[in-house]
Amino acid sequence: MDVRALGMVVRGGNFRARVAAVRAGQSAVRVAMTGAALETGVLDALRVPATVHDLASRLGYANHDLLLAFVRTLEAAGLVRPDGGSHEITRRGRAIADDPVARAAYTAFSDFHTGVYRDILQQLDGGDGRQDVNHRAQVIADLSRFMQPMVEATLREEVSSRPTRSVVDLGCGSGMLLATMLRAAPDAHGVGIELDPVAATHAAENLSRQGLDGRARVLVGEARERLAGEGPFDVALLANMVYYLPVVDRPGLFRTVRDVLSPGGALVVVTTALTDDWFSRHFDLLIRAQQGSMELPDMDVLRAQVEEAGFTVDATRRLTPGEPLMALVATAS
Ligand SMILES: C[S@@+](CC[C@H](N)C(=O)[O-])C[C@H]1O[C@@H](n2cnc3c(N)ncnc32)[C@H](O)[C@@H]1O
Repeated sequence: MDVRALGMVVRGGNFRARVAAVRAGQSAVRVAMTGAALETGVLDALRVPATVHDLASRLGYANHDLLLAFVRTLEAAGLVRPDGGSHEITRRGRAIADDPVARAAYTAFSDFHTGVYRDILQQLDGGDGRQDVNHRAQVIADLSRFMQPMVEATLREEVSSRPTRSVVDLGCGSGMLLATMLRAAPDAHGVGIELDPVAATHAAENLSRQGLDGRARVLVGEARERLAGEGPFDVALLANMVYYLPVVDRPGLFRTVRDVLSPGGALVVVTTALTDDWFSRHFDLLIRAQQGSMELPDMDVLRAQVEEAGFTVDATRRLTPGEPLMALVATAS
């Protein structure tokens, strides 16, 4: 090694900034590479050993040379390994491919979480908003399963701390949290309300699979509209849903919820909050870049809106260490 040349490397420009930039770039490349291994189907296909020729015909890819270079890159990254003339997935590759949250993380971070910056020029120039929340709903739902046990623990606590005969889950998505509330309150009935018909069907199937279909109904439509004529409920949940509404529309939703709660009934709002943490700011940017008027709630503003709608706020708390996932619990006064 030429020590003098190495000295020039270290003294050239801002060495620390250069090292940090290259390290960050290499992490970004690894995320994109793993995301592509999942999106192209290559990682899953190599659960069964295959030559590049077989792999290309199995997945319908025309460019064999590029596929070979891609497989060799995945090999160098430890995701697949050679096996005679074939390749197969490694234990490390399988750990990612078999875990829905790990899969969703690589897919989401290589796609829209970074795509928002790749496309930001066009959006700053007045281009259309993004449609990730609609088109990537399944990935978003899978990724949110990461912290689900923390949310479920809070819900079980709230539901079992009061006599609960009926619950409602607004923006119920896959219905998993509605199921959690019904299991924690074995005598209760529940209603899930979901805007997206595909997610609503998924929720009904999930509830049925868990033997809860006799105690739960899933309504398709906009939360405030579908709440009319329903209730009274002892607990109303809004999990990861409030930021889908423009800030000015949130008090109206809380008032509607207040009107369908029984006296002393509880409102539980679970949401990622706007903080000065860089990832919270990033998430806020990502959802502001979507079509519609989405933005993360500031917890002080959210609290004031809930109180204005006729609730007493009992507590706001952070559900996860290091992440701004918050729960606000309020009682209808
Ligand atoms: C991020 S998902 C959260 C799903 C579930 N609550 C959870 O925490 O796992 C938000 C859901 O709210 C639904 N949603 C958004 N706005 C809605 C509205 N105004 N009325 C009903 N559902 C809505 C979306 O379709 C989506 O399924």
